[in-house]
Amino acid sequence: MSRSVEADLASLFEAAKAAQNQAYAPYSRFPVGAALRTASGRLFVGANVENASYPQGVCAETSAIAAMASAGERRIAEILVIGGGEELCTPCGGCRQRIREFAEETTPVHVAGPEGVRRTFTLGELLPASFGPGHLRG
Ligand code: THU
Repeated sequence: MSRSVEADLASLFEAAKAAQNQAYAPYSRFPVGAALRTASGRLFVGANVENASYPQGVCAETSAIAAMASAGERRIAEILVIGGGEELCTPCGGCRQRIREFAEETTPVHVAGPEGVRRTFTLGELLPASFGPGHLRG
């Protein structure tokens, strides 16, 4: 990896970790953070925000995508999600589809724990043969 790619990934990791610290997860006690870089180089972050009416909670990735879209950005160049525990905190199915809306099959999805990135997938690996905006263009 080149120095700048490493630095970019480190900044994405730090941003996601800071967002994870702001998570509102009193029910699951499983704070998650997400950070994404847009094609234009801007960073957006999100955290999971749970609710006493459990299904109304939102995932960290969804929060980050909402922040990105609200700022007028439309292309995700890479995204990182950080969770706790031993397992890989991979995005849930719904979030894979939300990422898909603004990303490519080759877009990196980094999965991290407190110590750093554990594994990098492409979106195509996580959501093969997916349905996307192109399907509606005929
Ligand atoms: N969660 C995320 O925010 N992102 C993921 O990738 C997996 C799960 C959240 C949802 C819920 O607030 C908590 O983690 C436990 O499922």
